[in-house]
Amino acid sequence: MAYFTAYDELEGLMRERLGRECLYVPSCRLGLYLALRHWCPPGGRVLMSPVNDDVIFFVVLAAGLRPVQAPLDPHDGSIDLAAVPDSLWPQLSGVLTTNLYGNPDPAPELRARCDALGIPLIEDAAHAIGSEAAGRKVGGYGEAAVFSLSKHTAAKAGGFLAPADPGLREALAKARDELLAPPRASAELAYWARPYAEATVRGLRLAPAAWAVLRMLGQQEREDIRMALRPGDLRRALDTAPGLAAFHSWVRVDMHDYRASGGRLRLGRIARKLSRLDAVLDAHRTGAERLLATEWARPKPGRVQPLFRVPLLVEDRDAARAALARERITVGYLYDPPLDDYAGAAFTDPSPAPDAGRWFAHHALPVDPLKAERTIKVLHEAGIQPARGGPAGV
Ligand SMILES: Cc1ncc(COP(=O)(O)O)c(C=O)c1O
Repeated sequence: MAYFTAYDELEGLMRERLGRECLYVPSCRLGLYLALRHWCPPGGRVLMSPVNDDVIFFVVLAAGLRPVQAPLDPHDGSIDLAAVPDSLWPQLSGVLTTNLYGNPDPAPELRARCDALGIPLIEDAAHAIGSEAAGRKVGGYGEAAVFSLSKHTAAKAGGFLAPADPGLREALAKARDELLAPPRASAELAYWARPYAEATVRGLRLAPAAWAVLRMLGQQEREDIRMALRPGDLRRALDTAPGLAAFHSWVRVDMHDYRASGGRLRLGRIARKLSRLDAVLDAHRTGAERLLATEWARPKPGRVQPLFRVPLLVEDRDAARAALARERITVGYLYDPPLDDYAGAAFTDPSPAPDAGRWFAHHALPVDPLKAERTIKVLHEAGIQPARGGPAGV
């Protein structure tokens, strides 16, 4: 079929970049579901970051796994290995990294831990397509890594599942194909119309047709940063796990066609965006460098990564967000509260040391490096202060 030919082209571009086998998936969330189903037997516990998209939390639940929230480094939201108690490791059957905003989790150390325990490391590399950990590409450490083409490439669809073992390609492709939904003309049309619909809404010419397109794509389902949890419905869905069907209403938020195989138009647009990725990464690196030199940043030593967002740490995040909104700069990718506070002990093991993650989630202002200059100007004019204090030791 035509879309398989187009997959080949996309996979070739990514394979060259990553140096690993790459399998096209219609979204990172579907790729993560596939990876967790393949490598983590249902019923196990998986260490993950409490500062991740709630969609990914529901993917872990749909895979029949119990999330365990990790302690975080309050400077950048990466997993803080030193704060994981020794007694926790033997309870785990897998580790899922987040590489939040492109800041890498401590992959070499996590790799060593997972090897010692004989459990898989799965990398959520959605935000980290050009990042490196200890001189090696993020996505090169785990049994599998999953990328999203909706982030740096802004293709609003697509991703890759990259297994360490190329011999698994056929089995994973078969599992993927069983999960794919065939292209639907209405979804393809909505995908095509989305950039225009967003531009119309952004320009405050609130055409009803534009809102209808955004609703169809799942863009209007959050009243707050986190989606409504609906604990009763979630408990019933858990009885059916593993399986995606009962979790569909949570997993599809922000992207209703997360399982769509994609038609020619969609795959063509994705290929065009992917072929321009290097220029985009350069621009992200330049903007990140600029933002990391401001008073709100806590840069780490080493080469600047082409961050997807730069988490500035500000005292009053909501005031900063409001000041930016007045200048039509939308701050997305906020993950506050952390997942253990959001979901509670009924659905996840809490972090053994939650304060640093809470503090980070509350103060982090994820800034788009492509809007660095405008953002810095607005924050200065609004008198936004760097975050003070913090959990012990910050
Ligand atoms: C950290 C992280 N992982 C995974 C995803 C899911 O990516 P996709 O929308 O391609 O399914 C997101 C989406 O925002 C994300 O922020």
